[in-house]
Amino acid sequence: MNVLVIGSGGREHSLCWALAASPLLTKLYCAPGNGGIAQVAECVGLDTGDHEAIAQFCKDNGIALVVVGPEAPLVAGLADDLRARGIKVFGPSKAAAQLEGSKVFTKELCDRKNIPTAAYGHFTDAQAAKDYARAQGAPIVVKADGLAAGKGVTVAETLDQALAAIDECFSGKFGGAGAELVIEECMAGEEASYFVLCDGRNVLALATAQDHKRAFDGDEGPNTGGMGAYSPAPVMSEAMCARVMEEIILPSIEGMAEAGMPYQGVLYAGLMITDTGPKLIEYNVRFGDPECQVLMMRLNSDFLPALLAAADGGLDQFDLRWHGDVALTVVMATKGYPGSYEKGSAISGLEEAGRDENVEIFHAGTALRDGSLIATGGRVLNITARGGTVREAQQRAYAAIGKIGWSEGFCRSDIGWRAIAREDAAA
Ligand code: AMP
Ligand code: GLY
Repeated sequence: MNVLVIGSGGREHSLCWALAASPLLTKLYCAPGNGGIAQVAECVGLDTGDHEAIAQFCKDNGIALVVVGPEAPLVAGLADDLRARGIKVFGPSKAAAQLEGSKVFTKELCDRKNIPTAAYGHFTDAQAAKDYARAQGAPIVVKADGLAAGKGVTVAETLDQALAAIDECFSGKFGGAGAELVIEECMAGEEASYFVLCDGRNVLALATAQDHKRAFDGDEGPNTGGMGAYSPAPVMSEAMCARVMEEIILPSIEGMAEAGMPYQGVLYAGLMITDTGPKLIEYNVRFGDPECQVLMMRLNSDFLPALLAAADGGLDQFDLRWHGDVALTVVMATKGYPGSYEKGSAISGLEEAGRDENVEIFHAGTALRDGSLIATGGRVLNITARGGTVREAQQRAYAAIGKIGWSEGFCRSDIGWRAIAREDAAA
């Protein structure tokens, strides 16, 4: 069968890499793709905002399944528009994508289904929001309601920071995304992510992961889309996964079905593991990036039938096998990221770096220019390795990085530090 993946990041490269190995696959396309994806799929220059053009491409090329990588097309209703034309899609409807697209929507679902999450207030005017923040005191978390490219959340250590964040939100900085806001209790604990597939009714657990959002070593510096990740998350014991499933995931899926918006696709729960148990920080309606890369590295089953089962219903009949190994990925980014950076610097040595059979290099922002690989984005490469321990996976990833020639690139040198400290303490 022919499959079209939508997206252009490391997440989509790892999805394409996994799908390319499926015996069910005839031809894989990716729109728009990148320099690494071009090694496993045919990249097509479609505008992902043009749903009509994507539908036409699917008809012309006999696409049996569209797999949508990023959230923006889902929130914009790409899955609905393709399904309306009889095209099968892995990914939620526009209504169900509100789980990521609107924080108020998710909080109200948590209220209805009694799902553990931070206490909150919801506001449409600055005065009421500030009164609430003053009454609650710092630390406190201020969130723009809608999608704000990862910049809509302020964890305010002081009341003044919270008040400034409220003004910023209502100033129009986030456009429509900031017209409403949520103010939340600041939860303490360890963060982890849990990924499941859903077919509207049934849920299949995938795996857990943790990422590093800050740009620099020691989890310092500005927030990014993620500078590295590993799977599994040591804090997510089997018992903790079972609690998350019972207390958070299953009631959410039930609540979505009850609301007439059955959830189909991958659901990514951002969790805080607190002293009193797991609490939901947020939902995303897509795979994490770079968390997807470590999940795909640990997957030991054909992924295509699982995505089809999610799209068709029937996940209750389904199981996936996983490597017992740890997978860890280090993001290489262009110097300056997440601020401004130059595009077009040359990268070499990837073939040599990827020779270890335990290493895969996923591309997040590259292109081929005159036969040479160049960096075209902020996050550019994901050096991903498997190992018996987090330390071993980390050593393999950094050994590969040592073989890459890219003077304009940088990466963190401590991805996985928390999990390695845990391994050392247990040894
Ligand atoms: P988000 O953009 O929603 O992923 O949030 C960014 C980060 O803010 C999360 O990964 C958490 O580290 C932090 N965060 C969000 N909400 C809370 C909360 N209620 N308590 C503590 N930290 C939070
Ligand atoms: N790495 C975090 C995310 O994909 O949202």
